Amino acid sequence: MSTNGIAAAVKRALAGVVNPVTGKDVVAGGQVADLEVDEAGRTRFAFALRKGDPGALVRKARAAAEGVDGVSGVKVSVQLPQTATAESGAEMPSGAAAAPRRGRGAPAGTVPGQPHQAGLQPGSVPAPTPRPGILSGVARIVAVSSGKGGVGKSMVATNVAAHAAARGLATGLLDADIYGPNIPVMFGEERRPSVTGAKGSEMIVPLEAHGVRLMSLGFLLEREQPAIMRGPLIAGILKQFMEQVSWGRLDLMVVDMPPGTGDAQLSLVQTVELDGALMVSTPQKVATGDVRRGVKMFERVNTRVLGIVENMCGFRIPGSGEIVDLFGRGGGEDLANELSVPFLGRIPLDLAVREAGDAGTPTVISAPASPAGRSLAEIADRILESLERLPPRT
Ligand SMILES: Nc1ncnc2c1ncn2[C@@H]1O[C@H](COP(=O)(O)OP(=O)(O)O)[C@@H](O)[C@H]1O
Ligand SMILES: [Mg+2]
Repeated sequence: MSTNGIAAAVKRALAGVVNPVTGKDVVAGGQVADLEVDEAGRTRFAFALRKGDPGALVRKARAAAEGVDGVSGVKVSVQLPQTATAESGAEMPSGAAAAPRRGRGAPAGTVPGQPHQAGLQPGSVPAPTPRPGILSGVARIVAVSSGKGGVGKSMVATNVAAHAAARGLATGLLDADIYGPNIPVMFGEERRPSVTGAKGSEMIVPLEAHGVRLMSLGFLLEREQPAIMRGPLIAGILKQFMEQVSWGRLDLMVVDMPPGTGDAQLSLVQTVELDGALMVSTPQKVATGDVRRGVKMFERVNTRVLGIVENMCGFRIPGSGEIVDLFGRGGGEDLANELSVPFLGRIPLDLAVREAGDAGTPTVISAPASPAGRSLAEIADRILESLERLPPRT
């Protein structure tokens, strides 16, 4: 079939996807724009997600396109609703959702066939200022941190990254927890990354799972081998993961930090300009002391704190429906108020999270309707929105 024929078939398939909010199909409703199919069958289009639309609508549209004969892959650039215009019911202005095409000046690391979207919301924000030096192809970098281990940092980093990727953003996840790298398990990835490039200038190719480009020391270590490292080594490894991994162009890179407020955090902010840090806390008041220190540390080094997430709140007793606040409640929110940083939401203790971790699929993908899946998606959207509002880097 010709590329035009395939494009027409994709459009017909998309016209079969009905928006439950409006009752119209997504083509008639003006939510699809800039449909393109290349010779290899690679298909892309812009999708305007409106306020109130379920996130699953994008997945349905993508699945419809993927089901068309001749389509080899589908890339959707999602336009998130804009708080200012969504209320007025603004239709997507024609062409506004066009992802800026990769053209002049695309850096060497650009991944072929992966058109880069400048900024997090194509067409609505000015192209971000190129990052000087290291990770220059990455629009936004966010670190996920906490005072101590076991609070759900990796779980939050995993789900924020997977949600951003499902929203159509080119997303990377750097596992900087070299003491306990558990991103490979959470993404169900066991392969070893490959290496490309000429001798002397080799680059590690990140693995890709659930649409997220991944790099972790866990991919390079033998299984169960303990990572015994000291401060100066951490800086070296982090730098290598940024300079010698072919991340390509990314809209968002999430960095999963080791626990604490030590060497790794300082190395990271010294190595690369972060757009913000996210703190994960459990709800107990006693646990917030570490988080407070973490927030203060980031502020001291002029890194914006995007907000605090409270994890492991409330457990619904199976059968009875009764909710028990196993670890107390409200510690993260109180701390956010005390420190005047945004409170981004709370995630309940949820079996779906543990099952997702064991199965190697992020909860926002494996159990989007579960209590934790829903709050994780909301929190991730809040983070994406706050990144969109940031001024361009200077
Ligand atoms: N809200 C939750 N409900 C159920 N299990 C959770 C939740 N948050 C985290 N977990 C589980 O707790 C463990 C620790 O989480 P993890 O993200 O590895 O913590 P950290 O990276 O902060 O050390 C993991 O097994 C994870 O699946
Ligand atoms: Mg972790």
